[in-house]
Amino acid sequence: MSSIFKKLAARKEEGIVRSLRANEGQVDFSSNDYLGMAANAVLASSIDQIYKHYFPQPINGSGGSRLLAGHFNFYEQVEKTLADFFETEAVLIFNSGYAANLALLSSLPQKGDTILMDEYIHASLKDGARLSFANKFSFRHNDLVDLENKLKKAEGEIYVVAESLYSMDGDFAPLEELQPLVSRYGAHLVIDEAHTTGIYGRGGRGFLNEKKIAAKVPFKIYTFGKAMGIHGACIAGSQELKDYLINFARPFIYTTAMPPHAFASVYAAFLYIQQHPEHKELLEQNIQHWNETVGQASGFSKNESPIQTYTYPGNDNIRALAQAVQAEGYDVRPILSPTVKEGTERLRICLHANNTPTQISILIQLITSFHE
Ligand SMILES: Cc1ncc(COP(=O)(O)O)c(C=O)c1O
Repeated sequence: MSSIFKKLAARKEEGIVRSLRANEGQVDFSSNDYLGMAANAVLASSIDQIYKHYFPQPINGSGGSRLLAGHFNFYEQVEKTLADFFETEAVLIFNSGYAANLALLSSLPQKGDTILMDEYIHASLKDGARLSFANKFSFRHNDLVDLENKLKKAEGEIYVVAESLYSMDGDFAPLEELQPLVSRYGAHLVIDEAHTTGIYGRGGRGFLNEKKIAAKVPFKIYTFGKAMGIHGACIAGSQELKDYLINFARPFIYTTAMPPHAFASVYAAFLYIQQHPEHKELLEQNIQHWNETVGQASGFSKNESPIQTYTYPGNDNIRALAQAVQAEGYDVRPILSPTVKEGTERLRICLHANNTPTQISILIQLITSFHE
């Protein structure tokens, strides 16, 4: 037995073993629920109303893959609504962002094609690429010179994969330069909008919409488990892309579809954010408050996004800091190496619409005073 689990034993020895921990009741500086929608009572009752309206007889589970019993007319209505919202021809909904990314990159690029990935992209995109028979290479984070060198050498259909907002550093991709570069080489751009869905762009349509280049990007992933406060994800693009994924994307075909209640949640959440811009405004104020309060203090990021960091090198150091802050009732999580490069161990601090400015100031004070 022990030889099977020796990697776990090694991790325990190094002090970097992962374990599950609920931090209920703490002030949330950790979740991706940037708008505070996950616990929003108005949204909760709207979800219930929509569910009961479209499914007067309860249907607890979908009962199968969407290609079999797990498909309903309402699911198509939700996809049509999202396609209109994202100003695209079609969207296909997946059970999670992980499944959507796995589906896209494992099914679209073929043997002889090339996938070029920003080195910091999410594990779900990397795993999708790993399942593909295409050639795959990374380029340095946000480095368009390195990308161009690789574009020159790439063969077959070329897919360039990036995120609009990176989840560990809170920085944006240079989309306005990236898109024309990719297009000059006749390559296809894949943009994961996981951390921007709901909080950037007109009515929360994402960062590509904010930069007015969404129509030029053929493959977009929007997730619902972060700022939208619910669950699931969609791939947005052409009707042909949707048809292709329904036919070839194994994480879509070989899994039980999300239940009706989850589709009702998607429908309700997108209605809700369009009617309630105040959460987005509060989040923007909190980002500004963070940036003003950290000022020139060292170690703190000053990002124009809800994802901030405090870098304090060393796994032991960052864990001790996180524990001290948690002991005061503030939920922040340490990000250890090798998840991030050695020497850049950090607290990942997510700001939310429902954090108060006072809570943000106290958090910064707790971190600063740890060193005194
Ligand atoms: C950039 C990015 N893409 C995709 C995902 C996966 O989305 P989901 O949590 O819906 O599976 C995540 C999750 O953290 C992410 O950060």
